[in-house]
Amino acid sequence: ALVVADTWEKAVKAAKLVKAEYVTERFETDFEKLRKYESKLKKISEYKRGETDAYKNADVFVEAEFSTPIETHNPMEMHATIAIWEGDDKLTVYDKSQGPKGTQSQLARCFGLEEKNVRVITEFVGGAFGASLRSWPNVPAAVIAAKKVKRPVKVLLNRRQMFSMVGYRPQAWQKIAIGANKDGKLVGITHHAISNTSRYEDYREGIVNASQFLYDCPNVNTSYKILPLDLNTPTWMRGPGEATGAFALECALDELAYKLNMDPVELRVKNYAELHPVSKLPWSSKFLKECYDAGREKIGWDKRQATPRSLKEDGMLAGYGMGGGVFGAGRGNAAVKAILKRDGSLILQSAVSDMGPGTATTMVKIAETSMQMPASKIRFMLGDTDFPPGPTQGGSTTTSTLGNGVSLVCDALKKHLKELAIANVASFKASTIDDIEIKNEQLFSKKDSTVKISLGELVSLSGKEQVEIIQESGRAAAEAQKYAMNSFSAHFVKVHVDPATGIVKLKEIIATGDGGKIISEKTARSQMIGGAVGGIGMALTEEVLIDHSTGKYINDNLGSYHVPLHTDVPHIDAWFPNKPDPVINATGAKGVGEIALVGFAAAVANAVFNATGKRIYKLPIKPEDLIS
Ligand code: MOS
Repeated sequence: ALVVADTWEKAVKAAKLVKAEYVTERFETDFEKLRKYESKLKKISEYKRGETDAYKNADVFVEAEFSTPIETHNPMEMHATIAIWEGDDKLTVYDKSQGPKGTQSQLARCFGLEEKNVRVITEFVGGAFGASLRSWPNVPAAVIAAKKVKRPVKVLLNRRQMFSMVGYRPQAWQKIAIGANKDGKLVGITHHAISNTSRYEDYREGIVNASQFLYDCPNVNTSYKILPLDLNTPTWMRGPGEATGAFALECALDELAYKLNMDPVELRVKNYAELHPVSKLPWSSKFLKECYDAGREKIGWDKRQATPRSLKEDGMLAGYGMGGGVFGAGRGNAAVKAILKRDGSLILQSAVSDMGPGTATTMVKIAETSMQMPASKIRFMLGDTDFPPGPTQGGSTTTSTLGNGVSLVCDALKKHLKELAIANVASFKASTIDDIEIKNEQLFSKKDSTVKISLGELVSLSGKEQVEIIQESGRAAAEAQKYAMNSFSAHFVKVHVDPATGIVKLKEIIATGDGGKIISEKTARSQMIGGAVGGIGMALTEEVLIDHSTGKYINDNLGSYHVPLHTDVPHIDAWFPNKPDPVINATGAKGVGEIALVGFAAAVANAVFNATGKRIYKLPIKPEDLIS
């Protein structure tokens, strides 16, 4: 139900006067209890290579169960939609969306409209982390209401509704077992996972996937099941699946390293996968060893004590830990329009959105390099379906996909400008395309430096107001099929644990990530820093609690759902090998959005073990777990 009024206050007041009648039915929300009933589970996937449960025959093995709670994205900006009907069959919607094109096609299908008659504008997105990869009830509610009242309608979710109407990272249980020979060579990995979904949709994610391929291991078997509960449907949240799975995998490896009396990084190096263990394909690029080396050096890994609870600093138990991460590196199709104006400024347009990583900045950087012109004269416009179709911002693919489109449209524009000069400028008549170079806002002949014209003048001389060109990137080339493509990370942390209170403090964080070519150092670093902050929340504070007697969320507000505070966040340093991937796209960028988080919580749990000797298998790690 939706109450519409002409002020926010009246709407809120009126909504409180609505009396709902309902029939109480039996409901199930208790994941920990219900996951034990096989009949309630739905099988999603099984994987096996080599022998099943081969870890049992290894010299040394660990077996452990891991629990992770429901987590919500809780971006600063809540979901909001403004719907405006412009006639019976034409709709404009301002929305919080990671994919303007996706929202457009959902609305067209939902309301039986032609796509071209639906315009979605989502120019600024105040954080999302996956929460805006699909539309939530606020979107159709605003559209229906606007039709009924024949006026534009705005619907804004409140913070409580951000828990119940927007998806979340599902609760998960995992059992993982890893066995190795005495020298640390892995023999077998077994990984089983269950996560929750809703009663009305099957939400699934890749919790066990990384266990199949992050390390070289001959025998691996995994299974994944989902448990429908009477809750709203979960959705992708940063590092969906992999972040959950890496907590188990990277903690279990750490435990195995202690059992082997081996350095945890050395264990990973010993089992470094040179070929993708599932597809047997070579990676298009992989510089994870470089990440291990840089992480060790920068955190001061040599100060780590192999014996837990043996390093003390200022009365605190000190510990070092690391965790590795991985995520798919893909690229899709993007169309980008370039507009060169008479004043020599360049505008680029694509229907993508930016939930915070600084996509426009990164795209301007690519155009700056390609066009050899100052960034101050380039503007990237996004967030409007009237622009050429761009990808949804998700799965760490925006820089890879859209950057490729920008690079290609700049190439096309340069070629077109050279042709224009030859056709329209007397002094260039004798030149060929290969003779002409574009640099410093000018076209000039490589053979005779006196033959030149500025970009702006060329537009004027061509008799046009502006020169426009649209380029579509197309999907990845056939060449890409010959490679496995991933981004990789290794997170190194140092913690202090107060022996009296059990409070964990991050003291230092080194986040290393192989995201291919780093196009914009500043925004990529910010991705890694943001991921680490999210990871502190995952490791130490974030957890949605349910009252199973009523089926309601208990802590559905930012006062009691704790995201990290500034005081929880230490100095964070990010480091990249910064090596272009030669296959993925024209820029060599693979993406860092997800790897910034994947593996981080494990690094914290491993550091906590190193500091205290207590192995914690359940997130978030709480002070009471550490004092006993
Ligand atoms: Mo990300 S979970 O693809 O926004």
